[in-house]
Amino acid sequence: MSMRIDRVLLDRQRIAVRVSELADQIVEDFNARVGNGGSGGGPNGPELTLVPVMTGSVIFIADLMRQMPLMMRIGMVSVSSYPGASTESQNLEVKSPLPDNLAGRHVMIVDDILDSGRTLSHIKQMIAERNPASLQSCVLLDKPSRRQVEITADYVGFEIPDAFVVGYGLDYDGYYRNLPEVCTLLAEGKR
Ligand code: IMP
Ligand code: MG
Repeated sequence: MSMRIDRVLLDRQRIAVRVSELADQIVEDFNARVGNGGSGGGPNGPELTLVPVMTGSVIFIADLMRQMPLMMRIGMVSVSSYPGASTESQNLEVKSPLPDNLAGRHVMIVDDILDSGRTLSHIKQMIAERNPASLQSCVLLDKPSRRQVEITADYVGFEIPDAFVVGYGLDYDGYYRNLPEVCTLLAEGKR
């Protein structure tokens, strides 16, 4: 590997606390917004459809959804990833079909990080065409300084500076997703 871990940006404890807060907030808002007997329900009443963007959101979605006592289903989408550290997503390609039956549902897209904004904006647009009852988004990390498309997420775990990060699902060239912390990488040549 030409890149190695530099330092821990967000440790396990900080992530756990924040994910828990996010889950509480989402549930509270959902209940206030949709309540009982509102639209967008399934046979068991109001329900949420989580759409995690694979593969980066795999750890985040697992931790988040287990702290959300709501009727829910998940339907993942997969978008093409880029080799190496490149985060330029102009050649964005959605590699899996959208989950079925999004029409009339309360949908929340969940991704690991909001960078240029192209990925979220693209997926949002595609889902909006299916006429969901509501459409929101939640990202663990946000690098607002990198934005190229005007978009914000409804729920953000942490705003971080413009540094390439790995761990807790985020990768460099497919590696490091299993790190329990969010870490920065040591640039090539540095010690
Ligand atoms: P966007 O389309 O530029 O907003 O990019 C979002 C996607 O790029 C994320 O879902 C990640 O897969 C990837 N990405 C952006 N920044 C980073 C990073 O710092 N580390 C790892 N992946 C990143
Ligand atoms: Mg991703």
